[in-house]
Amino acid sequence: MHDNMMLEIEGLSVGYRQPKGEVPALRDVSFSVPRGGTCALIGPSGCGKSTLLYVLSGLLKQFGGQVMVEGAPVAPLRRQTALILQDYGLLPWKKVSDNVALGLEIRGVAKDEQTERIRRVLTEVGLWEMRDRFPSQLSGGQRQRTGIARALALEPDLLLMDEPFSSLDALTREHLQGLLLDIWNSKRITVLLVTHSIEEAIFLGQKIVVLSGHPGQVIDVVENPRVGQKGYRKTTEYHILTSQLRDKLEQVGDGS
Ligand SMILES: Nc1ncnc2c1ncn2[C@@H]1O[C@H](COP(=O)(O)OP(=O)(O)OP(=O)(O)O)[C@@H](O)[C@H]1O
Ligand SMILES: [Mg+2]
Repeated sequence: MHDNMMLEIEGLSVGYRQPKGEVPALRDVSFSVPRGGTCALIGPSGCGKSTLLYVLSGLLKQFGGQVMVEGAPVAPLRRQTALILQDYGLLPWKKVSDNVALGLEIRGVAKDEQTERIRRVLTEVGLWEMRDRFPSQLSGGQRQRTGIARALALEPDLLLMDEPFSSLDALTREHLQGLLLDIWNSKRITVLLVTHSIEEAIFLGQKIVVLSGHPGQVIDVVENPRVGQKGYRKTTEYHILTSQLRDKLEQVGDGS
């Protein structure tokens, strides 16, 4: 075990039980993410990316191999782990502020403390003015910011995000990617982000783990140390890496 590691995944395999037998979803996956680092996980649809996040958040308990979070075996409801689901997971009948409060309720945070944290995180993501709206009264980007605010309210040290920006238009997506970088810069949360987008993986992942098609296996781990540097998107390095990653993904059959 290494002291500076937030995530250590060793020989992880997951299968889903089906009437006709077990369907493998992940096979012998190993990689690690240092504390305070960012990692992007990219691979074709159905290769097991969401499955991996379920394991890391403790929701999925049936797996083979070893998964350590901060040096301890992964456990359900680790207080400092926050998960943002693929569809934001907002409850339509609750106002923005009440959606943000959800995780705090579950964790039994006192009411005064809840109020204070909700104000702080909604201000941080620029949604304080919209706190009394319902999700249906928000744009896609605002809904996603609500999801991010809800995760931040837990004051996590590990943030797991499942394709958080995929359904947004290009400008909103870039804006929120920037917001995520700002949050990461100021708090140094460890971030693991699942994405379909090559550009997003390179813009946000200090480490990029490339998975093969179903069942997902690690085919490459790319180091990308310039993440967060000003103007990275406009550099030659960024563009070279983009085409290298595109080649790798084409080899595993994902043209997206
Ligand atoms: N509850 C389940 N029962 C059986 N098979 C499942 C179940 N959930 C997922 N699978 C299968 O496991 C594989 C991995 O699914 P997963 O949702 O992790 O993929 P993914 O990489 O997140 O895909 P996408 O990019 O489309 O979100 C898929 O082939 C899927 O069909
Ligand atoms: Mg998924």
